[in-house]
Amino acid sequence: MSVRYNKVPHIKVNASIEEAVKAMIVRQSPVLHVTGNNGEPLGWLNSLDILRVFMEDPGAAEFKKRDIRGPMRTIAEEDYLDVTGKLSDISSWAKKREYRTPYFSTTEGTAGILSLHGLLQEALNNRDREKKLREEAETRFRQLTHTLQELEKALANLFADPMIAAKLKSTVEYQDEYDPATGKIKITGVIEEGVYRHVVNILRLLTELWEQGLMELAGMHQDTLVKTAIFHDLGKVQPRLEVGEIVDPKEAFESGKFHAFRSALLARRVYHLGENLVYLIRYHHHREDELPADFPRSLLPMHRLFRLLDGLSAGISRRGSRVNLTVRGTVVQVREESAHPTYNRCLELDLYSGNAKSKPLDRRTGGIN
Ligand SMILES: [Fe+2]
Ligand SMILES: [Fe+2]
Repeated sequence: MSVRYNKVPHIKVNASIEEAVKAMIVRQSPVLHVTGNNGEPLGWLNSLDILRVFMEDPGAAEFKKRDIRGPMRTIAEEDYLDVTGKLSDISSWAKKREYRTPYFSTTEGTAGILSLHGLLQEALNNRDREKKLREEAETRFRQLTHTLQELEKALANLFADPMIAAKLKSTVEYQDEYDPATGKIKITGVIEEGVYRHVVNILRLLTELWEQGLMELAGMHQDTLVKTAIFHDLGKVQPRLEVGEIVDPKEAFESGKFHAFRSALLARRVYHLGENLVYLIRYHHHREDELPADFPRSLLPMHRLFRLLDGLSAGISRRGSRVNLTVRGTVVQVREESAHPTYNRCLELDLYSGNAKSKPLDRRTGGIN
């Protein structure tokens, strides 16, 4: 705990003015505590009062004419203080001065004596402000925790079978850096519960599209897209890689088409999902020109949309991208901003025709260049 006061020196009531002034000078205190013969408190003596007595004394006439340069102190390095600075700096400055008067000078020519009341008031105001901010932060944190719990519950309902969420959570994803010279990647991070988070990201993007009325288009089915999102990577397996490892992605990772087939198999055999869902899951890593002849044409708009969201969600979790979606009729406009500017883009995909236009994002105007 900091010291709240400096002790004032005592002086007996029958001392002379000379003795009192000496005590003030020796103890460097402009104030003395006056006690009686038995130590009982009687009063206090202020150096200004002694000066007043001195001024009224006719015997001091000669002395009073003397130049003030004699007792004046030159402003020294330790007298300078940035009085507008931090309270903690002012406090350490005052601590160094100990008993001496807290007189200060500034480089701009201001001079003053620290105001105890003013400094205390400021410290109290700061404390009140911080307390208010902390209370606000705590309230926001409580609200967020509540929202998160609600979301967790909603998601648990959506996944229906807890085994599905558990399987998705058990599969990690990796963050990496690609070296175009060698074609290899360096593992820079491990995303725990990666596939689960990937699915949640897709569901969030789907919600953004529903809010803009996309599901009112013919060929768009909310339930189909939600289930495709949940089941599409269920059969995914990942190698165990460490951060810092450099690997050839073609050797370390199997082609996405394999897990797409396994997921489709699980969806059909274990979860008895309908034919359309199985098609969308099985071919989610197939480009449109790779699709087999029996792929239903009516599923193409959802196939295009799902592949778009699948890629965007990977960008969100693996590259920290920010994605903004806008629906214009049958066209989905995507703005993707990544920490890695080469991934920045503005894309327009017509879900009905399959036409896609991709352009780099112009950060200055926010438009397409
Ligand atoms: Fe996949
Ligand atoms: Fe995926």
